[in-house]
Amino acid sequence: MSETILITGASSGLGKTTSEFLSKKGYNVYGTSRNPSKYSIPTSYKLLKLDLTDIKLIDNVINFILEKEKKIDILINNAGVGITGPGEETDIEEMKKNFDTNFFGQVIMMQKILPSMRKNKKGLIINISSIAGYMGLPYRSCYSASKGALQLFTESIRMEVKRFGINILTLAPGDFATNIASRRYHSPVKEGPYNYLYRKSLNEMNRHVDDGNNPLEVAKIVYKIINTRNPKVHYKIGAFFQKFSIFLKKILPDFIYEKILMNFYKI
Ligand SMILES: NC(=O)c1ccc[n+]([C@@H]2O[C@H](COP(=O)([O-])OP(=O)(O)OC[C@H]3O[C@@H](n4cnc5c(N)ncnc54)[C@H](OP(=O)(O)O)[C@@H]3O)[C@@H](O)[C@H]2O)c1
Repeated sequence: MSETILITGASSGLGKTTSEFLSKKGYNVYGTSRNPSKYSIPTSYKLLKLDLTDIKLIDNVINFILEKEKKIDILINNAGVGITGPGEETDIEEMKKNFDTNFFGQVIMMQKILPSMRKNKKGLIINISSIAGYMGLPYRSCYSASKGALQLFTESIRMEVKRFGINILTLAPGDFATNIASRRYHSPVKEGPYNYLYRKSLNEMNRHVDDGNNPLEVAKIVYKIINTRNPKVHYKIGAFFQKFSIFLKKILPDFIYEKILMNFYKI
């Protein structure tokens, strides 16, 4: 019997490409969207209704799959949203909404799926974080924080569930050409102290995503991780300089690393 995979956020971008890729490889893939009827029905995988901020919908999806398939072997905790803005000005309610999806939503998915994985004494959870979660990026403070929180949560819970035969890890993408930039919450560019630099950074950020790598690279590394006997805690995928920036942060003094980031973002 082929393994059953649940991928959140499978209507677009990395989740959609990964769902198509893994289905073609023979996996039994269930994807999710907040609004499946908005999209043409995928031919190779199922698309179920799930909103990470709605526990009832999460329960419905997990119970539905467990009833049909008896188990969920792999969870790809992918759904997420972007948010930009100067830390001083970004609306706190928008920040909470971002954490509700990017952090608490992914945590609830783990909490809801772990009991069945423990019962099977087997399971793999891949939390899609971001290279932005390894460092605080200017004008993306909330996004960096939500993904950074997910990185650390993963490190903790991974140790707790290892003895049940379950592996939890993160996969951090750099910039990939998806719909994330057009869908993210942008704090309005206001008149005031951050106007010029935030506007400039926003244009740069959008350009980086549009010029980003092919989402197929993410699908391929997910496939590789699934087929690795003992996957590591953290994986990164993206342009060389983005992955290298994580290495640089580890070895350079903080003040030099900060100078490099500020030069890169021209702020
Ligand atoms: N693209 C990049 O450059 C990049 C870089 C680093 C990390 N990432 C991460 O990769 C993941 C996928 O992003 P993407 O680039 O593929 O973006 P995308 O094209 O905008 O896709 C995001 C997916 O998440 C779903 N989603 C959003 N909010 C949701 C919610 N509250 N509940 C359930 N589903 C929700 C969307 O589905 P519906 O709208 O249909 O519900 C959509 O399928 C995210 O976690 C993102 O932070 C992306």
